[in-house]
Amino acid sequence: MSAPRPDPDAQLAEAAERFGTPAYVYFADRIADRIERLTTDFGRWFSLSFAVKSNPNAALLAWLAPRIAHLDVSSGGEFARGVAAGWDPARASFTGPAKRADELEAAIAGGLGELVIESLREAELAAAIAARLGRVQDVLVRIAPDRVPKGFGDQMAGRPSPFGIDIEVAGDALAQIARLPGLRIRGLHIYSGTQCLKPEAIAENWRIFMSIFRDLCTARDLTPARLVFGSGLGIPYHPGDVALDTGEVAAGIAADLDAFKAEPRFRDTELVLELGRHLVGEAGYFLTRVVSVKESRGSRIAICDGGMNAHLAASGHFGMVLRRAYTMHRVGGGNTEPEKVDISGPLCTSIDKLGTGVMLPRLEEGDLIAIHASGAYGPSASPVRFISHPEPREVWVDGAGMRDVTA
Ligand SMILES: Cc1ncc(COP(=O)(O)O)c(C=O)c1O
Repeated sequence: MSAPRPDPDAQLAEAAERFGTPAYVYFADRIADRIERLTTDFGRWFSLSFAVKSNPNAALLAWLAPRIAHLDVSSGGEFARGVAAGWDPARASFTGPAKRADELEAAIAGGLGELVIESLREAELAAAIAARLGRVQDVLVRIAPDRVPKGFGDQMAGRPSPFGIDIEVAGDALAQIARLPGLRIRGLHIYSGTQCLKPEAIAENWRIFMSIFRDLCTARDLTPARLVFGSGLGIPYHPGDVALDTGEVAAGIAADLDAFKAEPRFRDTELVLELGRHLVGEAGYFLTRVVSVKESRGSRIAICDGGMNAHLAASGHFGMVLRRAYTMHRVGGGNTEPEKVDISGPLCTSIDKLGTGVMLPRLEEGDLIAIHASGAYGPSASPVRFISHPEPREVWVDGAGMRDVTA
C-alpha cells in the first residue's frame, strides 16, 4: 500500500510561508497520476507529447523528460528550454504559425525531430535552410480541418485561421512540399480545438482527424511514421464543471482506432496525443494572499497580492467566452459560513478580478486563497511585468519535499 499523501492545504500554506506569494505550486504526484491514467486509457494506440506552451517551467520539463515520449515546442525559445532541461532534440516537434528564419535554423541545426509545417512559405524557407546546412529535415504537415464538433471551449476549425494548411488546399500543398529537397514528409498533424469536457465530442473530433489522415495519405500514397492528434482534452476550471472521463472517450473511440491501426498503411504509424492542460493543469494551484479587505457599497472585496498580472487565465481574459471564477478555496483557518466576496488583484485597473460574488469562508487580511486548475497557462501566459509587482514564485512539490523552481 502506498503511503497516505500529505494534506495539500498544509503544503500550500507551507509553500506560501517559505517562498512568498503570489505563487504557483505544482504537485508532481498528480501529474504522475494523470500520465498513468492517460496511459491506461489510451496507451494501446497513442504516445504522449507535452505542449510546452502550457507550462515551460524548467523543473517540470526536466521531470517529464523520462516520463513521456515527445515534446512540442512553439518557438526557438521553447526548443532551447526543452533541450536545456535534458530533452533529446530528436524527440521534439516544432509547431507555430510564424516561425522565423533564425529559430528554424537553430532548431534544424540543433537536431530537431520534426518540424511541423504550417504553410508553404515556411516549407520553402525550411527547405532552403536545411539544404544550406546539408541536412534533410523530417517534417509533419499541419492540416487545418473545416469542422470541429460542438463542445470545444476554444476551436480553430472551419474559419479563417493562421494555423496550418487549410484542408481544402492540403492535397496540392502536400505535393508541393514533397518536391522540396531538404525536407522529408514523415506524417501529418492536426490541432483544431481544445478545452472539451464532452467525451463524445472528442471521439467525434478524432474520427474527423482519422478520416482526414486516411484521405490525404491515400491521395499522396504516404505511409506516415507519425500522426499527431491535438488532443482537445479539457479540465474542469469552474464550480459545476464535470471532469472529463477519459475512459469514456476511450470506450467511444476504441473500435475506430483499432480499425485505423489495422489498416496496412497505419500499422507501423506512431499515433501521438499532443496536449498541455489535461496533463498538468489540475496539478497546480495559484496562491494569492489577501492584502486588504474593503466593504464597498454593499460588497466585500478582498484585494490580493496577485491577480491578473500573475494569473491572466483565472481573471477570464485568456480565451474565455463567459467570465466565470475558477474554483478556489481559502487555505486553512477554521470553518466559517461561506459568504459572498469579490476577489481583486493589485493592479490599478477594474479588469483585475479573480472572481465576483464568490462564496468563500470569511476572508480577512493575511488569508491565503488557492485557485485550482492553475498548472497550465499560468505565469508564462500572464502580463507579469504590468505595474511591476513581484512576479509569482513557482514551487515544485514531490516526494523529496518542496523547492522554489521559479524560472
Ligand atoms: C499546436 C498546439 N498543440 C497543443 C496545444 C495545447 O493545448 P492544451 O493545453 O489545450 O492541451 C496547443 C494550445 O494552444 C496548440 O496550439
